[in-house]
Amino acid sequence: MKFIIDTEENIAKKAAQRYVELLSRNPDAVLGFATGSTPLGLYAELARLCGEGKVSFRDVTSFNLDEYAGLDGSHDQSYRYFMNHNLFEHIDIDVSRTHVPSGLDIAAAEAYDKAIEEAGGIELQLLGIGNNGHIGFNEPGTPLDSITHLVDLTEMTRKANARFFTSLDEVPTQAVTMGIKTVMNARSIMLMALGKGKADIVKASFTGPVTTLVPASILQLHPSVEIYLDYDAASLL
Ligand code: PGA
Repeated sequence: MKFIIDTEENIAKKAAQRYVELLSRNPDAVLGFATGSTPLGLYAELARLCGEGKVSFRDVTSFNLDEYAGLDGSHDQSYRYFMNHNLFEHIDIDVSRTHVPSGLDIAAAEAYDKAIEEAGGIELQLLGIGNNGHIGFNEPGTPLDSITHLVDLTEMTRKANARFFTSLDEVPTQAVTMGIKTVMNARSIMLMALGKGKADIVKASFTGPVTTLVPASILQLHPSVEIYLDYDAASLL
């Protein structure tokens, strides 16, 4: 594991450079994207660089980590909507080659890993980290061999995400997420965490034992992982 620790602004810039380098070498790379507040600075930077002609996503295929069950892609809290509004509309990606698990057709989850495999596998998977160590929506206890599946969201996760909804009641109780195995199959992984609130789980995940009770700790077993942290998130390392 390689740690990149800097200010929030520089973390976004350094993470964006990773995409510039990758796409200059491999313009048709398959990318795994994530939602949440953490990647917003990175996405704004990618949009800026793309606008300046410094990076192009024209030949990229993408797969997102997860989606709320029950939300259509036009719902303003769906992750499809998030990706369209925070990244895809601001870069030159072909939206027909962007994939987000369906929140409505749950049975389609079974085919998601196969679609990733058929596209050539994910070159670079971006991850955030939940306060309980979840990656994607793989909550503590998710088996190592899990592929894309339907999950029950923990109360902690629903409360953490309630800030985006008008009330906790509106936060879906389930989601479709890539599994731990899906994530670990990516050739490289980039995890980002920002803020003091993530310091404890960052410490537990990357300096503690590897355990399914802290899903992000499993990344210690992956051969190519970069952890991008601001000074606050890294403060307990
Ligand atoms: P956040 O979410 O980026 O909004 O903190 C991260 C996650 O839950 O994976």
